[in-house]
Amino acid sequence: MKNTPINYNIVNQKIKESNLQSVGRASIRMIKKLVDDIENATGERYIRMEMGIPGFPPLKIGIEAEKKALDAGVPAIYPDIFGIPQLKREIKRFVKLFLNLDISAESCIPTVGSMQGSYAAFLTLNRMYPEREGTLFIDPGFPVHKQQIRTMGQEYMSFDVYNYRGDKLKEKVESYLSTGKVSTILYSNPNNPSWICFTENELKIIGDLANKYNVIVIEDLAYFGMDFRKDYSVPGQPPYQPTVAKYTGNYVLLISSSKVFSYAGQRIGMMVISDKVFETRAPGLLRYYQYDTVGRAMIFGTVYSLSSGTAHTPQFALAAILKAVNNGEFNLLDQVKEYGRKAKIMKKMFTDNGFKIVYDKDEDQPIADGFYFTFSYPGMNAEELLHELLYYGISAISLLITGSERTEGIRACVSLVRRGQFSDLEFRLKRFHADHPIS
Ligand SMILES: Cc1ncc(COP(=O)(O)O)c(C=O)c1O
Repeated sequence: MKNTPINYNIVNQKIKESNLQSVGRASIRMIKKLVDDIENATGERYIRMEMGIPGFPPLKIGIEAEKKALDAGVPAIYPDIFGIPQLKREIKRFVKLFLNLDISAESCIPTVGSMQGSYAAFLTLNRMYPEREGTLFIDPGFPVHKQQIRTMGQEYMSFDVYNYRGDKLKEKVESYLSTGKVSTILYSNPNNPSWICFTENELKIIGDLANKYNVIVIEDLAYFGMDFRKDYSVPGQPPYQPTVAKYTGNYVLLISSSKVFSYAGQRIGMMVISDKVFETRAPGLLRYYQYDTVGRAMIFGTVYSLSSGTAHTPQFALAAILKAVNNGEFNLLDQVKEYGRKAKIMKKMFTDNGFKIVYDKDEDQPIADGFYFTFSYPGMNAEELLHELLYYGISAISLLITGSERTEGIRACVSLVRRGQFSDLEFRLKRFHADHPIS
C-alpha cells in the first residue's frame, strides 16, 4: 500500500465501485459523486475543484424582492413568456451601462438559466436556413452545449483555439464558415474552462466574419465582467465588458445570473437578441414556426414551447438586482473579485510545485486570474494526472471533455476552495511533487 495523503486502498476501492472506465474521462457530475463517496468513507476533505458552482451566498437584494413577490401571490399567475416589463427594462439598461449597446427592451428576454437561452438559440437560429447544419464551437467549451445540440439532432463543428489566437483566428474560423454549413458560432468569454479572454482584435475578427458569412454569434457571457485585469463594474463608464456586438449586428448574448450574482439555484438568465437579428426574416423558420421573424419564432415558438416563460418570482429578483447595479447602488463585481484573488494564490502553489498553466496567454498577455484555471504536470496526460491527484485529496476535471486538444490539461475551479484549505492544498501539492519527481 502506498502512503498517500488520502488512504490509497479506499480511493482504489471507491474508484472500482464507481464503475468508471476512466476517471480522467468522467463527467463533472460523476467525479463529484466519486469524491463525495471517498470523502464519506475516509472522513477527509478534498480540495474540490471539479464543479463550477458559486461559492458565495445569493444576493440579498434578490431574495428580498422574491419574498415580496411570493407574499403578493405572484406564483399563482403565469408570467408573460417574453418577461415582466420591469425586468426587460433593467436588462436593456444593464446592456447599455455595462456593454454600451443600444437595444430595445423587446429583445431582452429572461430564460430559465443561460442554459435555456443557449438551447432556445440553437433550436431557433440553426433552423433559419435549410442548407445550413448547425453551430461552430470555438473550444474549449462547456460540454453541455454540445449535449444540447445532440438532443436536437443538430450538427456542430468545433476546434481548439489554443493554436489559433490573434490573427491566426481569421483563417481558421473562415475555413469553417466558408463551407456554407454554419448558422451560428458559440464561445464563452471569459472562457469556461480555460479562462482565456478574447482580445478586441479577436472579437473584431469574429464579428467581421459573422458579417461576411451572415452567421449569428451566440456570445456566452456566463462570467460577465469577471476578467479582473480591468474594472468593468462602473455603470455607464468605460471600459465596458468586451463583446463581439461592437463589430457585428449578428449577435445573441447570453448573460447568466448564476456566477456574477450567485443566483444559480433560481435558474434565471438573460437572452439579449440584437434588434437586427430580432427583426430578421428567414423563410426556413416557417418549416417549424408560424412566424418567419427570428424574434417571434424565438419567443412565441421556442420559449413558449420549452417552458412557457421563466419562473415568475426569480424575475422580480433579477429585476431588483439589476436595478441596484444599474443605479450604482451595488457593485456588480465586489464580491466575485475574491475568485481572482484566490486563483492567483492557488496558481502559484501549483506552479511552485512543478505544475504548468496550460492556457496561459491572451495573445501576448498572461491570462487573468478568475473562476477557473488549467494546469498540467510534466510527463503525465490528463487522465493519469486526474487519477493520481485523487490520492492526494485534489479533485478537478479533465479538459478532454471540453473540446480541448491539450491532452495533458486539467481544469480547476476555485470557487468552492476556502482560504482555510490553502495550507492543505499546499501540503498535498508538495507531497505530489516529491512523490513524482520531474526528470
Ligand atoms: C460557459 C457557461 N455557460 C453557461 C453556463 C450555465 O449558466 P446558467 O446557470 O445561467 O444556466 C455555465 C455554467 O457553469 C457556463 O460555465
